[in-house]
Amino acid sequence: MPAIVVIGAQWGDEGKGKATDLLGERLKWVVRYQGGNNAGHTVVLPDGQQFATKLIPSGILTPGVTNVIGNGVVVNPGALLEELHGLQERGVDTAGLLVSADAHLIMPYHVAIDKVTERYLGKAKIGTTGRGIGPCYQDKVARVGVRFQDVLDEKILRQKVEAALDIKNQILVKVYNRKALDPDEVVDTTLAQVEQFADRISDTRLLLNQALERGETVLLEGSQGTMLDVDHGTYPFVTSSNPTSGGACAGSGIGPGRISVVLGILKAYTTRVGSGPFPTELHDEMGERLRKVGGEVGVNTGRDRRTGWFDAVIARYATRVNGITDYFLTKLDVLSGLDRVPICVAYEVDGFRAEDMPMTQTDFHHAMPVYEEMPGWFEDVSGCRTFAELPANAQAYVRRLEELSGARISVLGVGPGRDQTIVRHEILP
Ligand code: GDP
Ligand code: IMO
Ligand code: MG
Repeated sequence: MPAIVVIGAQWGDEGKGKATDLLGERLKWVVRYQGGNNAGHTVVLPDGQQFATKLIPSGILTPGVTNVIGNGVVVNPGALLEELHGLQERGVDTAGLLVSADAHLIMPYHVAIDKVTERYLGKAKIGTTGRGIGPCYQDKVARVGVRFQDVLDEKILRQKVEAALDIKNQILVKVYNRKALDPDEVVDTTLAQVEQFADRISDTRLLLNQALERGETVLLEGSQGTMLDVDHGTYPFVTSSNPTSGGACAGSGIGPGRISVVLGILKAYTTRVGSGPFPTELHDEMGERLRKVGGEVGVNTGRDRRTGWFDAVIARYATRVNGITDYFLTKLDVLSGLDRVPICVAYEVDGFRAEDMPMTQTDFHHAMPVYEEMPGWFEDVSGCRTFAELPANAQAYVRRLEELSGARISVLGVGPGRDQTIVRHEILP
């Protein structure tokens, strides 16, 4: 049995949580490989209960799945405890959650620095979630980060926190006019928090490889989306890790040969949270309509999501950089009731037509969408369970997106519920 990667093909919030949940019963393992509590993945169970996972893999809601927070994730221990307790209070069995000994900790100074740098940037801000994600990854790459295994050795933890705060306190106080943090307090709080889930800290890369050897199915769940990837996204308006499928190996410790399915999650239109270019963005009533009908409000920060038409240039790009084998097209139901549905098929950049993502940020900022209009449909599609039941115009819209995106659309979402799904091709062998 294979490893399968689930990734967002746009700017996040495509419906990754629903996709993971849908495959849940056929999985043994679900792994988060990057990001942190900047994510917000919604899962609606068959009994109507709604959950929003942040740091913990969405597989936690499927009994019998072992969930792994991989080495590539950055973990705020306080946020992890809060999420664990929240799930436990609602009766979710959280026994099957493991955390990699190599995952880095988001420390209080990372959160403080994230917030002050954003404020300092003013209009040029990234619009981060303010969870300390970027500063934590900075320390990881600078080789001054704190990993879970460091917390298991108090002496090492103290040395690392003291060394980090030596410089960070100077920055907080002298540059940003904030209060200094007390190293002892940071160490004591961290120890007290991590102690509460120390038994979950594991050599997860060994366990995952052993599971794959035994033939068990592993799903690697990306957070964020392709266009928020630090290498392949709309830099600098990105998150500080690699949600794209290549990141799944680095962030979990399995080899690329293990991955046989890359499932891209694609919304039938486009949304984005935070700053940065967005060629098909709508600033009119239509944008408002998509936001309202689609319920486009951030799960994590409660910010309104920016909305726009489907962008096939981005979908083609996502297919290419992730090696997407199948798409799950979500939220088709949201487009019911429109006379015509525009699709961005290419860009016009300084008078030239571009079929592919422009090479430079400047060109992407100048990209004007070239639209093709498809006839709309007025029927409510949320009750459809087969492709044939969809109105002919909705079928034509899906087929056109498939043609433009370069990978088959195997599953369709017609509502948030697990059963509000149309399967055209089986994804797992
Ligand atoms: P994620 O971050 O990619 O997991 O996505 P979010 O949970 O942030 O946002 C997706 C939203 O769309 C959630 O509220 C889901 O319940 C909802 N959703 C997912 N699929 C569908 C669908 O096919 N139709 C509708 N109407 N809502 C959906
Ligand atoms: P899911 O997993 C949408 C965006 C932020 C900001 C940028 C950088 O639910 O799809 P960060 O705090 O990561 O440094 O912020 O990335 N962002 C997301 N947008 N969905 C997410 O997660 C996001 N996680 C981060 O809004 O623009
Ligand atoms: Mg989300």
